[in-house]
Formats: sequence, C-alpha cells, structure tokens
Amino acid sequence: MNHPAILSEIKLHSQQQQEAFGALLAGVLPKHAVIFLEGELGAGKTTLVRGILRGFGWSGTVKSPTYTILEPYELPQQNLYHFDLYRLADAEELEYLGLRELLGEGLLFFEWPERGEVLLPAADIIVNIQHEKSARVLKFKIRDPHLQHQIAAIIQSFEHGLSASPEKL
Ligand SMILES: Nc1ncnc2c1ncn2[C@@H]1O[C@H](COP(=O)(O)OP(=O)(O)O)[C@@H](O)[C@H]1O
Ligand SMILES: [Mg+2]
Repeated sequence: MNHPAILSEIKLHSQQQQEAFGALLAGVLPKHAVIFLEGELGAGKTTLVRGILRGFGWSGTVKSPTYTILEPYELPQQNLYHFDLYRLADAEELEYLGLRELLGEGLLFFEWPERGEVLLPAADIIVNIQHEKSARVLKFKIRDPHLQHQIAAIIQSFEHGLSASPEKL
C-alpha cells in the first residue's frame, strides 16, 4: 500500500516514547477515522492510544477496555472510541455497544480487530506493533496519501529528536 520512499515504520524504545509518539499522531489524525491496532498482548496498543489521548489534551485515566470492550472519550475536538475486542463473545455485543451509530462520529480505535471480523468497517489506518527485544516496531498502512505523508513527517521528526538526544533511548 505504501510507496517505498515514504517512511511508514518507527522503532520506539520505551513506554514514554510510545506515548510521546502517540501524542504527535494526535496532531495529524482526521476527525473521523477507523484505526486498527494489531499486535499481540503487551505489544503497546493501549499505550499508543493513551499517548494519542494525551495529545488531544485528555488528562484523565486511560483504562484498557479489555473488560468493558469500549471506553469512550468526549474530547473538545471530537469523540474518541477505544475498543478492545479481545473478549468479544459474539457479534451482538458490538450491536449493543452501538457501533453502527458511532461510525462517522469520531475516531474509532480497535485492538484485536480480527475478532470483530466482518462486523467492522474497513480501516483507514492499520498500525501493526511488534516486539523487537524490549522495543516495539510500529508499521503503518494508511489509505489516504496526504495522511501517509503527514505520518511519515512525524516519524522523521521523532527520529531526528531521538538522534539529537540519544539519552532519551
Ligand atoms: N515502545 C515500547 N517499548 C517498551 N515497552 C513498551 C512500549 N510500549 C508499551 N510498552 C509497555 O508494554 C506493556 C504493554 O503495553 P499495553 O499498551 O498494555 O499493550 P497492549 O494494549 O498491546 O496489550 C506496558 O508495560 C507498556 O509500558
Ligand atoms: Mg491493550
């Protein structure tokens, strides 16, 4: 999906970096989007969403939606819906949560999207997170070319910041 010249992956070395990068992402995300977060348990999916929420100015707690399936956030800019489908038992649960009504209402993040299968809308952004020793590698697939460039620019500036002050590693 991505042009090879466009940066679409970044290695992050700590929870702090994961959150800081998420906060930068908040600055370029559109008001409405469906975002899939792929990666095993402990990959850092919830941590990335926490960072994004901090970037939007949310100072309250950010709980993992493991048990509730959905944690909603009303932000001044837009609403943000954080789903974790790990424990989704059946499709009706998503209906009860009002997924259909939420589409087009804000930013929708899905951890474990593969458990929602056909019920979910197509993703505008897919973030795949993999362990690499104690660090994490985030790979982005982005539908919109403009957003693709914006995220590439963030990756570049974040990496520049890291190389300028390597003690942050
Ligand atoms: N880039 C990173 N480097 C090292 N540790 C990280 C990174 N991102 C997150 N973590 C840590 O990984 C653990 C799991 O994070 P979490 O976001 O709960 O994962 P998930 O939601 O994917 O299950 C947490 O202890 C978190 O601090
Ligand atoms: Mg999680």
